[in-house]
Order: sequence, then C-alpha cells, then structure tokens
Amino acid sequence: MSAKKEIVLSGIRPTGFVHLGNYFGAIRNWVNMQEEFDCYYCVVDWHSLTTHPNTKELKENVLRLVSELIGSGLDPEKCVLYIQSDIPEIAELYLYLNMLAYTGELEKTTTFKDKVRMQPENVNSGLLTYPVLQAADILIHRAVKVPVGKDQEQHIEMTRNFAQRFNYRYGEVFPMPYAFNYGDDLIKIMSLDGSGKMSKSENQMNTLYLADDDDLIRKKIMKAKTDSGPTTPNSVKPDYIEGLFNLMNIVSEKEVTAKFEDDFNKCSIRYGDMKKQLAEDMVKFIAPVRSRTQAIRRDEKYMKQVMEHGASKARASAIATLQLVRDAIGLKYH
Ligand code: TYM
Repeated sequence: MSAKKEIVLSGIRPTGFVHLGNYFGAIRNWVNMQEEFDCYYCVVDWHSLTTHPNTKELKENVLRLVSELIGSGLDPEKCVLYIQSDIPEIAELYLYLNMLAYTGELEKTTTFKDKVRMQPENVNSGLLTYPVLQAADILIHRAVKVPVGKDQEQHIEMTRNFAQRFNYRYGEVFPMPYAFNYGDDLIKIMSLDGSGKMSKSENQMNTLYLADDDDLIRKKIMKAKTDSGPTTPNSVKPDYIEGLFNLMNIVSEKEVTAKFEDDFNKCSIRYGDMKKQLAEDMVKFIAPVRSRTQAIRRDEKYMKQVMEHGASKARASAIATLQLVRDAIGLKYH
C-alpha cells in the first residue's frame, strides 16, 4: 500500500476576477501540487460576505472563479474543488475555534486593520473573526501544506495557534499547517505601478487579470511605470522596475530576461523594448488560460457536476474530522 499523501488546502475569495497575483502567488502551486498530494481547493464564498454583503454578483463570481481555476490547470479529477458554503461542517468547526481565539489577537491582525480602514462603515464581527473561519477551512481537512501568497502568512500562523490551543485543551487532533510555496519564499506580485501588491481592489489598469484580452494586456503593460533608466552600472532597481523584471522572470524565456538584466546593469536598457517583449510573452501565457476558461464557463452541465462532485468529497473529509473534534471536546450525551 502506498504511504498516505500529505493533505493540502487552500482557498480563494469570489470577489472579482482572478489576477496575476492570485495566479503566481497561489494557483500555480495548486496546479503543481495536485500531482503530488491530496489537495482540497475551496472557493470561500462565506469569507467574501465580510466585505461584499451585496450578493447580486456572487453567483456569477463563484461560477466564473470555478471556471478560471479549471482554466488555469486545476483538474477536478485530481483535486477536490468545492464551494465553502456547501460544507456546513466548516461553520461548526469555526464555532469551536472561536472559543479559542482571543479578541485581542484578532484586533491586531494586519488584514483586519486594513479592512477597518477600507470599510469603516461596516466593521462587522465576521471581519474580526475572518482568520478563525480561515483556520476552520484548513483544519477541517487536517491539512498540513497551505499554498498561499505572502499576504496570507499571518493567517496561517494564527491557524497554527488555534490548532495548538485545541490540541492542548482537548487532545491531539490537528497536525500543524504551514504556508507553502515551491521555491524558498512566499510570493508577492506587485501592481504594475509598483505601489503595492497586485490586488482585486487596486486600480484595474495596474492589475493584470486572466480574463484580460490581448490588447488590454498590451495596453496595461505598455503603460506600466518606468523611468529614463539607470545612470550608474549595476544600480539597485526601483520597485516598479523590479516588478516588471519579476513578471518577466515568470513568463519569459530565461535568455530573454538575462539580456534585459544585462542591459539594465550596463545602463543601456530600453524599457519600451522590454515592455513590448513582456507584453507579447504575457499574451502568450494568458490567452490559452482565458480561452479554456470561457469554454468551461459555457458548459453549465460540467460546471454543476464539478461542484457537486467536489462538495461530496469535501464533505466526507469534513464529517470525519468533525467527528474527531466532537469526540475530543466530549460533545456526546446520549
Ligand atoms: P485571496 O482570495 O485574496 O487570494 C487568493 C490567493 O492569492 C494570493 N495573492 C497573492 N499572491 C502574491 N502576490 C499578490 N499580489 C497576491 N494577491 C493575492 C493570496 O495570498 C492567496 O493565496 N484569506 C484568503 C482566502 C482563504 C484561504 C483559506 C487561503 C480563505 N480560507 C484557507 C488559504 C487557506 C484570501 O483572502 O485570499
């Protein structure tokens, strides 16, 4: 019998179009990991309610996201792809973990503080306990590896704290999960103007989406911020130039990137040429993902089947964990 594979879980919010930060920070790893591990990938619609209470676009966002994930290379036969709200067991585990999470630590969480700043009119307690729900997502499958981008590191650390407290109080149920990336560090993709991370709430012209058409990709990249170039050899790159090189490193041939690195170091770089090259390589990368996504999205029967299949597999795993949790706490009276 083969050894049991390690369990992987990750999630993504259905709050907008998938962008390159999502892809290179997380989804690319998800795709690779499905060959090696027991993978669960979740569209976290409950989480999206903390910031997007209006649900008019939710259904379309969820369906598009599922199709974008498959278009990016997830294979529903090789991984368990499901929607969070199809698994009520997550909500029950969230309840237990809430008793182990201190309001003080939740108030100190970076993402909570950011969101309070962004939506002062709606500081709901779901926003405060967001990391607890995320911990429930991870622990419900007793996952170990959590492929995420750099911005999620703190949430995974909090998950470990909650898991440790649970194990200490009620007995060993959860293994310790950790943030995972192939390669050394977690990834942070910068917005095209280098002003911060690429995100769903950023200016759309500074964000590349997997749904962007070829001309829009070219336009966004050609507009990306540059300057007149370095004047001393081997200078340190400004953030916005570093960001362009990072993208090039990911989508262009090694020799191509090396040539522009060399030009930069010799102060002979022409950013116009570099951006043209990057734009063409980006188009080559995004176009097939976009067309696969569109074809999948149109196939309503297949979409339904994928979501039902995912929900039933994820529920089986969730029910098994919840049984261990209830036994450990001692919730059995008859
Ligand atoms: P979300 O939906 O914001 O993003 C999904 C994934 O994309 C990564 N990401 C980035 N990586 C690198 N550079 C960027 N600019 C960038 N922008 C986004 C994120 O790190 C993430 O991996 N709280 C999570 C969703 C979640 C979750 C979970 C994740 C809910 N439950 C359980 C893991 C495990 C979130 O808001 O991701």
